[in-house]
Amino acid sequence: MKTILVTGSSGLIGSEAVEHFDRQGHRVIGVDNNMRREFFGPAGDTLWNLERLKRVTNNFTPVAIDIRDRAAVEQLFTHHPFDLIIHCAAQPSHDKARDIPILDFEVNALGTLLLLEAARRHSPEAVFIFMSTNKVYGDAPNEIPLQELETRYDYARSDDFKGITEDCRIDRTLHSLFGASKAAADLVAQEYGRYFKMNVGIFRGGCLTGPSHSGVELHGFLSYLVKATLTGRQYSVFGYKGKQVRDNIHSHDVVSAMEAFAENPRPGEVYNLGGGRENSISMIEAIDRINRMTGKKLEWRYIEEARKGDHICYISDLSKFRSHYPGWRITRSLDNILEEIVAAQSQLQAASSGS
Ligand SMILES: NC(=O)c1ccc[n+]([C@@H]2O[C@H](COP(=O)([O-])OP(=O)(O)OC[C@H]3O[C@@H](n4cnc5c(N)ncnc54)[C@H](O)[C@@H]3O)[C@@H](O)[C@H]2O)c1
Repeated sequence: MKTILVTGSSGLIGSEAVEHFDRQGHRVIGVDNNMRREFFGPAGDTLWNLERLKRVTNNFTPVAIDIRDRAAVEQLFTHHPFDLIIHCAAQPSHDKARDIPILDFEVNALGTLLLLEAARRHSPEAVFIFMSTNKVYGDAPNEIPLQELETRYDYARSDDFKGITEDCRIDRTLHSLFGASKAAADLVAQEYGRYFKMNVGIFRGGCLTGPSHSGVELHGFLSYLVKATLTGRQYSVFGYKGKQVRDNIHSHDVVSAMEAFAENPRPGEVYNLGGGRENSISMIEAIDRINRMTGKKLEWRYIEEARKGDHICYISDLSKFRSHYPGWRITRSLDNILEEIVAAQSQLQAASSGS
């Protein structure tokens, strides 16, 4: 039995990790202070997910500490020697960061450093996994030649077909403050792997999704799209004719990638992790597919101005991770993912309307 720390344990990826490792009989400690509610208001509240976790787990201990609280983090590590640390707590929104640059940096960059340093001092042998983001590449992926198709943009050259590799540069691009705070954390995490030789792995996520997302307009694309469709809320599409492309990966497949890394860690390695080409979809394709799946029609408006630093076509090239961990695969197709989100959101709607 291992002792595992999951930060952001009431969030999408953190909660999936808690359930997964608890099911395997490990002891899981979860850190989450429900800061998602502070970032996004009541719709971002993750307490429902914490309550759900308490019901379904056997050996899970939640603690509501703030990862910016150095003394609390230190104390946590003093009391528990961890074998595995999965760091998912974050301010996760590209757009939100412009309103709260200091808080965003404190949570994403400083919080990550405090956890890495506590791990170095108290659990130096532990595997430490940091959830980074494709926004560390800023808008550099937009420099790749694109072609406009009927419902989406796509890469124009066959060499780019598989998507963005880890060789994409991370500086001299427009990141958004979120991309910059995550890039700072991503670099520091690499140093703890390369300089201190700790077992640190960095995953640069595409769109991570699943039924446990507390989706809000500013974060959780598919989850919020389904929510808006089911509740009749108006949705806004920003720029690129709605043809911008995202690759989507189910939280289960993210956690199985973390597990593969934890079993055979490579200090300081960076991996792109998204749904790849098969799980890629454009905004207008997603709207159409969800309309068909739910039998409803999303009301949406188009706003000409794109989000600053937004990717036009982002598909994660998974070749590096697949070559290092050949046993890992994507198990949930885009349709599987959407069906799960629609089912979970329909249940929530039914519960809240008392039917
Ligand atoms: N979801 C995506 O599409 C996506 C894409 C790329 C990268 N990521 C990264 O993956 C990680 C997990 O994302 P997610 O979608 O599960 O996010 P999430 O918002 O669902 O979960 C994050 C959790 O962290 C908690 N938290 C925030 N600040 C905290 C603090 N200071 N102390 C303690 N807890 C705090 C929040 O309350 C929330 O429950 C993040 O690092 C995010 O940047 C996510």
